[in-house]
Amino acid sequence: MKRKVTKAIFPVAGLGTRFLPATKAIPKEIMTLVDRPLIQYAIDEARAAGIKDFIFVTARGKSALEDYFDIAPNLEAELRRAGKTELLNVLKTTNMESGAIAYIRQQKALGLGHAVWCARRLIGNEPFAVILPDDVIAAEKPCLQQMVEAYAETGGNMVAAMEVPPEKTSSYGVLDVKEDMGQLVSVKGMVEKPKPADAPSNLAVIGRYILSPRVMGTINKTKQGAGGEIQLTDAIAAQIGASEDGVFGYRFRGQRFDCGSKAGFLQATVAFALARDDLRDELSEFLREMAVIDKAAQ
Ligand code: UTP
Repeated sequence: MKRKVTKAIFPVAGLGTRFLPATKAIPKEIMTLVDRPLIQYAIDEARAAGIKDFIFVTARGKSALEDYFDIAPNLEAELRRAGKTELLNVLKTTNMESGAIAYIRQQKALGLGHAVWCARRLIGNEPFAVILPDDVIAAEKPCLQQMVEAYAETGGNMVAAMEVPPEKTSSYGVLDVKEDMGQLVSVKGMVEKPKPADAPSNLAVIGRYILSPRVMGTINKTKQGAGGEIQLTDAIAAQIGASEDGVFGYRFRGQRFDCGSKAGFLQATVAFALARDDLRDELSEFLREMAVIDKAAQ
């Protein structure tokens, strides 16, 4: 089945414990890289890939996300009155067409697989994308767009993949490669969070997927896996051989930042700020000074 991908699921129901206490009161996905929340990067990437229906799987305490994508009548009126057209244009990127976003609740954080499954009725019988907003990817052509183009040739299921140092495999889902075709690999198995000695490769899955609707049925039968959670990786792995859909890994072009971790978030902040004309000079000057002080202290 090769079809156009127009629906995307954004699982944002996790507890974000690595950012406590901040995430006690604000969703992780609202935390800002420079001046835009993580979720804005994810939405922009989905739009560039041709996504029309945006499905958020949320949870209690995440209402700031819903407000973010709503209009802000008072703020907009105030900016209009003050003639601040540029700022009004900045706000426009947060406005979504009526009915384009749907919010579904995952009542219990039972895992990423379960979060995706919560959206099954809105997915119906269509292929769909999954974007994890805490994986931010800086790329010339947005990562999901690269994948949608590759998927038009392969169909089936596709996961974004990248090489990681062997000692890091226990933080990722890892691919067991059947055939390596360069940018694309076909997959004969997937293991969630293997110890380095048990990892079938060092090709790790990161937070972009294009999946066949059949995966929803598989998630329903998937038992709790690594960490006691219902793992999306396990459900995709169960597809291998169970239907005519293949599973492919796609080595995307771009730099991925793990914004679910503090170090990754800080690195992304620096990288995105250095890419901005209005911040580059001041920040790089500061970083040079810091490096000198750090060296002197050693
Ligand atoms: P993480 O593993 O990063 O978990 O989830 P988390 O809860 O967000 O953060 P930590 O580890 O406690 O700091 C990866 C993605 O899956 C979503 C999260 O919102 C995040 O986008 N997720 C995870 C759910 O939507 N539901 C779940 O039950 C688990």
